[in-house]
Amino acid sequence: MNKVLCIGLGKLGLIFSFILASKNNFVYGYDIDKKIKRNIDKNIKNAEPKLNSLIKKNYNKFKFEEDFKTSVSNTTCSFVIVPTPSKKNKEFDNKYIYNSLNEIGKYLKNKKKYIINITSTVNPGSCDKFIKHLENKFNLVHGKEFIITYNPHLIALGSIYNDVLNSDVVLIGSKLKYGHNFLRKIYAPLYKKKISKLKFLNLEEAEISKIAINTFITMKISFTNTISQISDKIKNINSSNILDAVGHDTRIGKKYLSLGALFSGPCFPRDNLNFSKYLSDKKLNSSLPKAIDNVNDVQLKRYIKAFNKFNKLKKPTVGICGLSYKQNTNITTRSPGILLYNYFKKKYKTVAYDEYKPDIKITNLEKNLNNFGKKCDVIFVCYQNSKFKKLEKIKYSKKVLIIDLWKFLNFKNKKVILKTIGIS
Ligand SMILES: NC(=O)c1ccc[n+]([C@@H]2O[C@H](COP(=O)([O-])OP(=O)(O)OC[C@H]3O[C@@H](n4cnc5c(N)ncnc54)[C@H](O)[C@@H]3O)[C@@H](O)[C@H]2O)c1
Repeated sequence: MNKVLCIGLGKLGLIFSFILASKNNFVYGYDIDKKIKRNIDKNIKNAEPKLNSLIKKNYNKFKFEEDFKTSVSNTTCSFVIVPTPSKKNKEFDNKYIYNSLNEIGKYLKNKKKYIINITSTVNPGSCDKFIKHLENKFNLVHGKEFIITYNPHLIALGSIYNDVLNSDVVLIGSKLKYGHNFLRKIYAPLYKKKISKLKFLNLEEAEISKIAINTFITMKISFTNTISQISDKIKNINSSNILDAVGHDTRIGKKYLSLGALFSGPCFPRDNLNFSKYLSDKKLNSSLPKAIDNVNDVQLKRYIKAFNKFNKLKKPTVGICGLSYKQNTNITTRSPGILLYNYFKKKYKTVAYDEYKPDIKITNLEKNLNNFGKKCDVIFVCYQNSKFKKLEKIKYSKKVLIIDLWKFLNFKNKKVILKTIGIS
């Protein structure tokens, strides 16, 4: 059994540590935030599917470790999964990674080819700087005492377990074959026969690939929204019919070509902007990621225009159904729900509903969908969740306008006027 150390047990790190523990690894876990251990001890339910059951089943293969000396000397590899928040200039801030490297670095002198696997998303070119930093500060040699690998995950919150196990591609960057082979062995029990999905790259290629993949997906979303907007002006347009026809061409494909809201969450928007910054720093053409972001930015205005067009009341109560950026998570980063909530709360009485308590303070939050529906005159449905179909069954005492950003509702309730963004 491999013994590995996971540094950073946040939204990605905690579940990833337990995925590793479930696949033939003993995991030492370290986080500066001690609440994480307390929450596990109290068995607090986490919104992330599978997390609680994974912890329960694999707790005997996991140990919270406070002491870096013990953790490093007992393991052959560290996974660094700490935050890399975006700076004002759209670069990722690597300071938490440097903090972790400074802790590990102290105990590497007697190690042989200790793998430091960076899982956090970093700016292209960062891993080379991490190597130089460790070599200079601790008088070490890359390839001798330690090896840096880069292995970010292409996951979304609310589906991390499935996304890790079923991702189409696993990026593994290293300067050395040893690094590639080490991770090949770690991942063998996870991917079994589908080991071909592992893509072995050099460090900078892997760093670029992570943000390039997310930029391509956001490009598809912004393309979809470009088609979707046609129905705002032209009569008798169902944009989903157009997208279906376009996506039928196998050179294009159907994925991410169905009607939906703007892109949001902790990865897509910032990875796209980071790629733009990377290209312009290198004096390369960065107009594509900029255009993708620009299309995304105007989507909120479309939702507000739809409201202004269809709402007939002077003082409506506006409901935001779904504040997080997708189902099964409470994270609201740049979500359509939070953008709409912040806009409408300045103008009208605004109520929000979500299944999980949002990660930011919301003054007017309704916990029961039925009560929420009855309070509202206009409801924006902001992410896809089959539970939101219950909005149809509510016994409304007045007419209610429902604006669906995702084209997944289909109501027969006579009290409901349903408008779908993307359909004239
Ligand atoms: N959340 C996602 O959807 C997602 C997806 C792909 C990639 N990523 C990347 O993964 C990284 C982590 O993201 P996250 O969402 O899990 O962040 P997070 O903020 O939820 O968790 C990070 C954890 O690291 C801990 N931490 C900070 N500094 C530390 C240190 N020096 N030592 C030990 N622990 C420390 C924090 O206390 C926190 O618990 C980021 O680079 C992010 O871009 C995240």
